[in-house]
Amino acid sequence: MYKIAIIEEIHKDGLRLLKDNPDYSYELINDASPENLIKKLPTFDGCTLRVSKLNSNILKHCKKLKVISRHGVGYDNVDLDYIKQNNINLLITAKANAVAVAEHVMALVLSISKAIKIYDKEVRVGNFKKNAKSISTLELFNKEILIAGFGRIGKSLIKRCLNFDMKVKVFDPYQNKEIIEQHGGVKINNFNEGLKSCDILSLHMPLNEKTKDLMNYKTISLMKKNSILINTARGGIVNEFDLDKALKENIIFGAGLDVFQNEPILNDSPLLKNDKVVLSPHSATFTNECTSRMSVETVKNVIDFFEKKIDREMIVKL
Ligand SMILES: NC(=O)c1ccc[n+]([C@@H]2O[C@H](COP(=O)([O-])OP(=O)(O)OC[C@H]3O[C@@H](n4cnc5c(N)ncnc54)[C@H](O)[C@@H]3O)[C@@H](O)[C@H]2O)c1
Repeated sequence: MYKIAIIEEIHKDGLRLLKDNPDYSYELINDASPENLIKKLPTFDGCTLRVSKLNSNILKHCKKLKVISRHGVGYDNVDLDYIKQNNINLLITAKANAVAVAEHVMALVLSISKAIKIYDKEVRVGNFKKNAKSISTLELFNKEILIAGFGRIGKSLIKRCLNFDMKVKVFDPYQNKEIIEQHGGVKINNFNEGLKSCDILSLHMPLNEKTKDLMNYKTISLMKKNSILINTARGGIVNEFDLDKALKENIIFGAGLDVFQNEPILNDSPLLKNDKVVLSPHSATFTNECTSRMSVETVKNVIDFFEKKIDREMIVKL
């Protein structure tokens, strides 16, 4: 029997797969502090993992651990060097969350372009139409979106944009032109040129040395005055102080962020007082449907791994 640790609670639909399975036992570990993980994790063969960190200080105690199954697709909370050296496999929920994130992007774009937050506030304080005409709003029809990063989420987003009659440019140095064109986009090779012509920029790449602070005061300043910047990828790709400054100087129209350099966002972040940005708490995948899908996929990945039938798409190549 394989022992599986569920590090931090997941939706009950996933746990059901383990409950009904005589080949597995599981234990929920809600206290994901390093001390508790060092104490508990060494007896387990596999684990699911949400946002808590698994670094080498913890993992060096886990000699039995064969597989870490991430509830999500990012894995910056796992020590990749350590697991590679020690033959611990890393799995992701590759199929579960693209739709939810793509829909969240549309929600942010629509809420900013239609000034929903501002209108809502005005109506509540009795200004039913008083200020309505002075509030600037935009349409998506015929606008150009630049999708930067054309993986699972980028591909899910493009369909939604095309259905809004938008023109789509794609910047992804690792995706070939034909694939992008098959999806209805135009591949561009010069990111800065893309910034100059787009009305909306949506980021969908990993955070790494190349993408850290990719959107800073200088690059944001290349964008058009009425443009919108969306980041649902990873905090750190957008420099938050530079974004705040650019918004205050009306360099772009607005921004939507689901991810932040520090999570939770720091109490003294200037963005908290900036009305031109719409914020959400890294919640793009928190739909009822996606929470269930991710939980099921995370657990199924562990089972498929031990039963040697794991889908290649779920395996992170280290
Ligand atoms: N907000 C959320 O809740 C949430 C949920 C899921 C994923 N994410 C994040 O969204 C991002 C995209 O996820 P995905 O599942 O589509 O990943 P993916 O791996 O399927 O796609 C990423 C794409 O980015 C491209 N890329 C890599 N470096 C690039 C660069 N410098 N410039 C342009 N493109 C580059 C890759 O070629 C790849 O096509 C990741 O950062 C992920 O962590 C956030």
